[in-house]
Amino acid sequence: MAISSVPASLTSLLFVLILILFDGSASAARSTGSVYEPFLQCLVNHTNSADQISKIVYDQKKISYTSVLRAYIRNARFNTTSTPKPLIILTPLQESHVQATVICAKSIGIQIKIRSGGHDYEGISYISNEPFIVLDMFNLRKVTVDIRNETVVIQTGATLGELYYSIWEKSKVHGFPGGVGPTVGVGGHFSGGGYGNMLRKYGLTVDNVIDAQIVDVNGKLLNKESMGEDLFWAIRGGGGASFGVIVSYTVKLVRVPEKVTVFRVEKSLEENATDLVVQWQQVAPHTDDRLFMRLLLAPESSKVNKSQITIRASVVALFLGGADELVSLLGKEFPLLGLKKENCTEMNWIDSVLWWANFDTGTKPETLLDRNPDSAKFLKRKSDYVQNPISRNGLEWIWKKMIELGKIGLVFNPYGGKMNDIPADALPFPHRAGNLFKIQYSVTWDEPGDVVDKNYTTQIRRLHSYMTPFVTKNPRSAFLNYRDLDIGINHYDKNSYEQGEVYGTKYFNNNFERLVKTKTAVDPENFFRNEQSIPIRR
Ligand SMILES: Cc1cc2nc3c(=O)[nH]c(=O)nc-3n(C[C@H](O)[C@H](O)[C@H](O)COP(=O)(O)OP(=O)(O)OC[C@H]3O[C@@H](n4cnc5c(N)ncnc54)[C@H](O)[C@@H]3O)c2cc1C
Ligand SMILES: *[C@@H]1O[C@H](CO)[C@@H](O)[C@H](O)[C@H]1NC(C)=O
Ligand SMILES: *[C@@H]1O[C@H](CO)[C@@H](O)[C@H](O)[C@H]1NC(C)=O
Ligand SMILES: *[C@@H]1O[C@H](CO)[C@@H](O)[C@H](O)[C@H]1NC(C)=O
Ligand SMILES: *[C@@H]1O[C@H](CO)[C@@H](O)[C@H](O)[C@H]1NC(C)=O
Ligand SMILES: *[C@@H]1O[C@H](CO)[C@@H](O)[C@H](O)[C@H]1NC(C)=O
Ligand SMILES: *[C@@H]1O[C@H](CO)[C@@H](O)[C@H](O)[C@H]1NC(C)=O
Ligand SMILES: *[C@@H]1O[C@H](CO)[C@@H](O)[C@H](O)[C@H]1NC(C)=O
Repeated sequence: MAISSVPASLTSLLFVLILILFDGSASAARSTGSVYEPFLQCLVNHTNSADQISKIVYDQKKISYTSVLRAYIRNARFNTTSTPKPLIILTPLQESHVQATVICAKSIGIQIKIRSGGHDYEGISYISNEPFIVLDMFNLRKVTVDIRNETVVIQTGATLGELYYSIWEKSKVHGFPGGVGPTVGVGGHFSGGGYGNMLRKYGLTVDNVIDAQIVDVNGKLLNKESMGEDLFWAIRGGGGASFGVIVSYTVKLVRVPEKVTVFRVEKSLEENATDLVVQWQQVAPHTDDRLFMRLLLAPESSKVNKSQITIRASVVALFLGGADELVSLLGKEFPLLGLKKENCTEMNWIDSVLWWANFDTGTKPETLLDRNPDSAKFLKRKSDYVQNPISRNGLEWIWKKMIELGKIGLVFNPYGGKMNDIPADALPFPHRAGNLFKIQYSVTWDEPGDVVDKNYTTQIRRLHSYMTPFVTKNPRSAFLNYRDLDIGINHYDKNSYEQGEVYGTKYFNNNFERLVKTKTAVDPENFFRNEQSIPIRR
């Protein structure tokens, strides 16, 4: 008895070890060949349309694989030969294709990454450290505007430009409070709690979402009612990719005046930019809700002395009203800006969308339908939140550091207004009342190579570190849509709750726990995972 029990337990231990080893090496050794056939067969079985399936599945041998993959790579840092590539790309034409993809990927045990606009700053919608399939949503991009009901159903493969154009086609007095990049995808932007230049009046994109459709881990297509309260809450700011494939969002339109006003005013340090920034902090988060004044700060060579570096402060604004009213408002509240009527341009809302996207005056709204931006740059972004105004001395110290580093820009995005009225736990996005503004750190460059990459990513990390005294602490908050893998990576370890907690509390503060609870309930096997997904708690 005693003799036989020893080998029995050894055997089971060995068996477990073999299972662990085999599991690891099996997935590492996976190739397109071993995955493609069973996956394709499964898709055909689940969709009953072999014809269509062959047109929407791209394995690495297919001639167009590379162009399909590259079409939505928006950061040149992740466009190299050493960037991990998907075994298969799938481009669904209808909901049932999404459902079959989830069922079949799950049944063969392969990860899927979901891509809408591909603008994730760290490329995690099309990169992975394990074998994976990209589910690319660009064919699912119908935008259905119902002006009578003031609602829009937006498939997640649509871009913001397509959304804004579709609204404008139907009405000149409606708009939507989304982001300023026309090629940004609805799937990532909305699910991450996207915002734009009307947030002080109308809140975030997700504050205006009234319904959604999602394909869950079982391949079921659910809407607001059938997905339940927690899941509907989670996909409005908690990041879609932890929970399922979001197929569409239904939103409420907002009213915009027939004429809105924009301006851009710039001052360098020699022109007392520091005073301007001091006053901006007093005004921008508290002024009229209809006014959004973004502040951009960047090092540049001085006009007074070309061999000296200065800081340029640019105030870029949208006002949901006319120029006379704006000039009089800011004459009282923000005299250091010195705004004149000549500095303002009145235009209709859709032209303000183009203006904010830096298109030349007179550019046709149809340009918003262009999905192919012509620049392919290298970029890195980070974020922070500010709850107390930064003093004059503090600002001067920051300028000194920015000038030393040489290339990092900051963007201050004012909050307040509607953002103060929405409770911090209403949706996963927690950065509401108490926040004066959000900072985006930004560096963009043109030259490839590891040395250059290291140079600029080191600079941006340094500036972020220098900013510690001025920004939120415990947690030091961050914005999910400004994806930043520096703040903690979940290495897909199924026991990585602690790792997930690091970035999870930064992105979601006290809402992290409800996201974990929801995730654990709807996807207990952690099928929908990525570098910064919501972890499971067992
Ligand atoms: C030029 C530019 C301008 C920007 N301006 C703003 C701005 O004004 N305001 C703002 O808030 N942000 C802005 N951003 C950030 C932007 O909102 C985020 O990068 C956003 O996540 C991009 O969405 P996407 O669909 O293009 O990206 P993707 O890379 O396709 O996706 C991003 C993330 O969402 C997941 N995802 C995508 N689609 C789905 C889906 N259908 N279901 C489930 N998960 C999905 C992906 O897997 C990935 O994790 C800007 C970015 C750029 C590059
Ligand atoms: C597909 O369906 C056929 C016929 O029903 C079945 O034999 C086969 O096992 C199925 N394959 C997959 C991968 O589901
Ligand atoms: C990716 O590389 C290809 C080939 O060099 C290039 O045409 C494309 O513009 C690049 N895209 C990005 C975003 O860098
Ligand atoms: C508009 O709203 C009404 C009332 O809520 C609803 O009955 C109708 O179906 C809606 N129309 C569309 C096209 O959704
Ligand atoms: C604002 O208008 C005034 C008066 O025309 C002009 O002198 C000034 O340069 C303008 N400022 C900017 C930033 O355009
Ligand atoms: C900057 O401020 C100083 C002191 O208030 C003032 O004398 C000077 O005219 C200002 N310069 C500009 C360009 O506004
Ligand atoms: C311009 O700046 C450089 C570097 O700070 C300095 O050496 C030089 O004297 C300045 N020139 C003038 C005309 O002020
Ligand atoms: C590193 O950054 C500095 C400051 O922006 C720049 O002057 C220098 O050329 C960069 N070096 C490389 C190798 O990119």
